[in-house]
Amino acid sequence: MNMIKEKDLFSPIQLGQYTLKNRIIMAPLTRCRAVNNIPIEMNRIYYQQRASAGLIITEGTQISQQGAGYPNTPGIYNHKQIKAWQKITEAVHARDGRIFLQLWHVGRVSYPGIQPNEEPPVAPSAIKAEGDYVQPRALEIYDIDEIVLDYKDAADNALAAGFDGVEVHAANGYLIDQFLRDATNKRDDKYGGDYKNRSRFLFKVLEAVIAVWGSDRVGLRLSPTNSFNGMSDSNPEALFKYVVAGLNPLNLAYLHILEGSIHVADESIASSSFDARSLRDVYTGTYIANNGYNKESANQAIATGSADLVSFGDLFISNPDLPERFLQNAALNQTDLDTRYGGDEKGYIDYPMLEPLAI
Ligand SMILES: Cc1cc2nc3c(=O)[nH]c(=O)nc-3n(C[C@H](O)[C@H](O)[C@H](O)COP(=O)(O)O)c2cc1C
Repeated sequence: MNMIKEKDLFSPIQLGQYTLKNRIIMAPLTRCRAVNNIPIEMNRIYYQQRASAGLIITEGTQISQQGAGYPNTPGIYNHKQIKAWQKITEAVHARDGRIFLQLWHVGRVSYPGIQPNEEPPVAPSAIKAEGDYVQPRALEIYDIDEIVLDYKDAADNALAAGFDGVEVHAANGYLIDQFLRDATNKRDDKYGGDYKNRSRFLFKVLEAVIAVWGSDRVGLRLSPTNSFNGMSDSNPEALFKYVVAGLNPLNLAYLHILEGSIHVADESIASSSFDARSLRDVYTGTYIANNGYNKESANQAIATGSADLVSFGDLFISNPDLPERFLQNAALNQTDLDTRYGGDEKGYIDYPMLEPLAI
């Protein structure tokens, strides 16, 4: 009798034009260790150590100076940045890895002193994010057109830097998400109001980026029920089902969903009737699930078809060789929370590997 093996994290899979070696995806992780918004040598080592992932999705990377919100995050809008990222993509490819760049504009979520010339950050509406953030100004229509062009230029730069594709970051309360959800979008023009209008900016950005890369090398990240950065929507189910149905004809490389909320104890999410995992059934393409998965729950999600691939955030911070550890059922290193954002090599490139790499 032929035994049909269940699909698991180690079953090969086609992602757009790439055959991945496993379904273990490195989630995008801001680590605040670039210098002057330019990646440095230790960033190259960090990504090369993690090249055994089926796909690396880089940390959020600013499409423009205006798109920056935090100190020491990298960009992809100037020549030095392109050159620096080239070294990283080469290092990942040398270890037979694949790497997509996450394209990021923070919108209103910008700390004091980050925007050039003390300009205010920009947002769909002039609503300040809670915390130490700066009061934003509402975008004019012509500003929006310029930002779409910035996405296109950043996509061009990512191509020049040797990436395998790009992920459009439309999650976690940053600019595109600020347009999508009605807590932050109070516009009364074609970019605000009903959910069709609120989705318009996202689809324009996707169109611009697809024009550079082709749809099968473009992924998209959404976080429909994540309250991080003060986000909410009055009807997330209607909004995100509309968005995902609109994605189907685009044939993207993948849809990457942060399920639930990264504020685990968030009551508004816990009591919300909408389960973001239901979007899996609306989407006809390749689905990457994220948030709180471990080896067992990820294998189960893949075996039951509730995900095609699973991305891991915290586990990849502390386990550069996560696929090998999963394969061997080896113990996992714990993540040091104090060194997640910013700092030096400690908590960045010094997590032990089962077999140290010669880099
Ligand atoms: C230190 C840190 C930085 C993060 N940076 C990003 C980022 O740049 N872009 C993004 O989309 N998500 C970011 N996230 C969210 C992660 O990609 C992921 O959704 C989250 O860690 C939940 O997955 P996990 O339970 O596997 O860690 C970050 C999370 C952490 C812990």
